[in-house]
Amino acid sequence: MKKRVLFIDCLMRGHSRTHLLSDAFFDGLNKDRFQVHTLKLRELDLQPLANDFYAEREELLAAQDLDHPRFQWAKLFAASDLIVIAAPFWDLSFPSLLKMFIENVCVEGITFRSDETGLHGLCRASRLVYLTTRGGFIETGSPLEQATPYLKALSQLLGYGEVITIAASGMDVQGYDVKNALRQAMAAAKKTAEQISAE
Ligand SMILES: Cc1cc2nc3c(=O)[nH]c(=O)nc-3n(C[C@H](O)[C@H](O)[C@H](O)COP(=O)(O)O)c2cc1C
Repeated sequence: MKKRVLFIDCLMRGHSRTHLLSDAFFDGLNKDRFQVHTLKLRELDLQPLANDFYAEREELLAAQDLDHPRFQWAKLFAASDLIVIAAPFWDLSFPSLLKMFIENVCVEGITFRSDETGLHGLCRASRLVYLTTRGGFIETGSPLEQATPYLKALSQLLGYGEVITIAASGMDVQGYDVKNALRQAMAAAKKTAEQISAE
């Protein structure tokens, strides 16, 4: 049986550079072994958890009604073997569209559970690959890069295992060899997918 990949496409514009990284990743992924389900966040009618939308969620969770359609993305996330996120680097992190999606995914009883010993992840995945491009020279691990630490912390809650970040930085720096930086990141993305395919 093919392994299930959830591709969370948080690309925000037509001529996205980050798109090149996700294309390279899926180029390297063995399609005989992996079945990819893509969610284009720009096309989902995502809304912030507020007002009636918030109240409805509280009521559904109180009634333990987890079959409601609004929980479909949480179920998909929990059942996937590999999560891939492509999102540009915005405001030291990622676009709010992705945070709204995450709000939909963090559902007690689907992606995590709690008991007297704490919170326990319920996700099947053992790995999340995060692909991004950054305008400035901000490297993964810099205090100014808050997307990777957040995704790692979230894995403590949801239990999707290790987070692999592949990034190209300096995209908006004048005079920088952007093409070369992108080429290197694309090669890293493809190689990572080939390694995952070979496991
Ligand atoms: C709203 C917005 C916020 C951004 N914030 C940052 C930032 O905090 N740091 C940075 O280095 N680049 C920032 N950038 C630049 C983008 O990270 C960069 O242009 C990236 O390559 C865009 O990805 P894309 O081509 O896939 O859309 C920002 C761009 C936009 C539009």
